[in-house]
Amino acid sequence: MIDCSSETVVVTGASSGFGEAIARRYAKHGAKLILAARRMDRLEKLKGELGVPSHLVELDVRNRDAVEKAFGRLPADFANVTILVNNAGLALGLEPAHKVNLDDWQTMIDTNVTGLVTVTRTLLPGMVERDKGHIVNIGSVAGNYPYPGGNVYGGTKAFVKQFSLALRSDLLGANVRVTNIEPGMADTEFSLTRFKGNKAEADKVYQGVEALTADDIAETVFWSTALPAHVNINRIEVMPTQQAFAGFKVERRS
Ligand SMILES: NC(=O)c1ccc[n+]([C@@H]2O[C@H](COP(=O)([O-])OP(=O)(O)OC[C@H]3O[C@@H](n4cnc5c(N)ncnc54)[C@H](OP(=O)(O)O)[C@@H]3O)[C@@H](O)[C@H]2O)c1
Repeated sequence: MIDCSSETVVVTGASSGFGEAIARRYAKHGAKLILAARRMDRLEKLKGELGVPSHLVELDVRNRDAVEKAFGRLPADFANVTILVNNAGLALGLEPAHKVNLDDWQTMIDTNVTGLVTVTRTLLPGMVERDKGHIVNIGSVAGNYPYPGGNVYGGTKAFVKQFSLALRSDLLGANVRVTNIEPGMADTEFSLTRFKGNKAEADKVYQGVEALTADDIAETVFWSTALPAHVNINRIEVMPTQQAFAGFKVERRS
């Protein structure tokens, strides 16, 4: 059993899906946890089940002041963060670009891009100073391959991929690793959020498919950070066996 008792792991978006599974995975190995999300009731319940020291942060990652306050002044026992999992994120809607609700685009950019870079910028100096750290970003295959209605969601995840690679360049010599995990279809609350609480629409996404589970992604995140410190996994794409590529579409007019 890998011992993580010397790790302090920040997980954003720990109140459901991947984030919750990632928290459970590190707890099994004795890590200290800092769990952030807006739904505190969910975090409180999770904390009660984990059995490791856990510091909860009620946080909207879009709020720069709140991020800087929460992560800039951590309790002494939790101050030496060694792993940051930038997981908080969402997709909203599947409409084509010319019909989309502009507020949804803004929310995705604010959360998936602005939130992620704000949390990173707040916690990174400590890692560099201590000469130890690992940032794991949760990207998406949507950042690599377009699909109808993926417009700005895919754009935000392409940003996360490129930002992750750029961090590697900046952090050369700092002993801080950076990994971008790029999942395909996974059965979490992701689709319920995308379809704004419409459970029937969300359930359709996973119908007849053995989708990835949150545990599959937690396992991938954990594996990437458990490798020896001289090994950096830059990017990993993970998809369900039942999901693949469908080629180009052609519009024929005659
Ligand atoms: N499921 C998939 O198919 C899939 C595939 C590829 C990538 N991803 C990515 O994986 C990550 C996790 O998604 P999931 O599938 O686990 O979905 P999920 O079950 O809906 O979880 C999303 C998490 O993000 C948090 N979050 C959302 N907006 C936030 C904000 N403004 N501030 C703080 N926390 C926020 C939510 O917490 P609160 O609502 O409590 O704040 C929740 O804990 C996301 O970045 C998503 O884009 C998912």
